[in-house]
Amino acid sequence: MIGKTKITVIGGGHVGESTTFILAVKELANEVVMIDIIENMPQGKALDMMQAGPILGFDTKIIGSNDFKDMQGSDLVIMTAGFPRKPGMSREDLIGQNAPIMKDVAAKIKEYAPNSIVIVVSNPLDAMTYMCKKITGFPDNRIIGQAGVLDSTRFMAFLGMETGISIKTIQGMTLGSHGDDMVPLPRFSLIGGRPTPGVVENEKLDAIIARTKKGGGEIVKLLGTSAYWAPAAGTVMMAESILKDKKMILPCHAILHGEYGIEGLFVGVPVKLGNNGIEEIVEFDLTDDEKAALKKSADHVKEVCEIVDNMGI
Ligand code: 2OP
Repeated sequence: MIGKTKITVIGGGHVGESTTFILAVKELANEVVMIDIIENMPQGKALDMMQAGPILGFDTKIIGSNDFKDMQGSDLVIMTAGFPRKPGMSREDLIGQNAPIMKDVAAKIKEYAPNSIVIVVSNPLDAMTYMCKKITGFPDNRIIGQAGVLDSTRFMAFLGMETGISIKTIQGMTLGSHGDDMVPLPRFSLIGGRPTPGVVENEKLDAIIARTKKGGGEIVKLLGTSAYWAPAAGTVMMAESILKDKKMILPCHAILHGEYGIEGLFVGVPVKLGNNGIEEIVEFDLTDDEKAALKKSADHVKEVCEIVDNMGI
C-alpha cells in the first residue's frame, strides 16, 4: 500500500503479541496498535517491543492501548482476542466464552475501522469468522480467516522433520475447517516439486496427515495452552501478501458462494491475497474423495455456525 500503513491487532495475549512483534520486525506497517482490555498490559508489552527496535533495526511504531478508538485509520485489523484452549478442550468448546467477545469486537471494528480488511484468528475459527462477517457486514473480500496457512505450515514442518528434506523445498496445502476434520491435500503438497504420495511412503504420509490434523491439540497438551508462534507467523504471511499486494495464493477461510459446491460458509480454500484482500478464490480440480472430505469438513463448519445462530448472536 502507498503512504502510511496502520495495522491493529486486537488482543495482547500470546498470539496477539507474537503477531505484533513479527509485524514490527518485518516493518510491514508504519504503526502497529495492539489493543487489549487488560489495563496497562498492552502498553507495557508495546514499550518492551519498541525497546527491541534499536537492536533488531526496525522503525515500526508499536502502540499498546485499552481504547478501541485507537484502531481508527487501520488498513488491516487482526482479531486474536479470546480464550485459548486448555488440555482436553476442542476448539468448539470455546464458543460460549469467545462468541460474546467477538460480538463486541466486531461491532467496534465496524464502528472504528469500517474500511479495513479483517483477518480473524480467534477460535473456534470457523465460527468466529462467520460471526465477524455477520456483525460487520463487510464485503466478502475483506473478511478472511487464518487457519489454512497454519495447518499447512504444520503439514510442511512434519514433512520436513520426517523426510529430512529442507522445508525450503516443501510446499503444503491444507483446506477445510480449522478442526480435526481439516483436509490436508497430499496431491497438492510438493516435496522438491513432486507430489508427496510419490516421495513419502503411504503409512508414513498417513501418520503425518493424522498428526497435522491434531497439530494444535498436540501443542495444547504440551503447553497447557494454545500455540502462538506458528499462528502468528501464518497471520503475518497473510498480512504481508495483503499490504504489499503480493498476490500470494494461500489457504485461508473465505466465504464461498458455490465454489467447491459450498454455499454461504467460511471454509479454508486457496485464495489470492492482495491490496483488496481476497482477490480470487482458486478452485482446484479435486478427486471425488478429496471433494467428499471437503464437504464433510464444510458440514462441520455449518454445525458450528448453527450453534452461533442459536445463541442469538
Ligand atoms: C492452533 O491450531 C490456536 O487453533 C490454533 O494451534
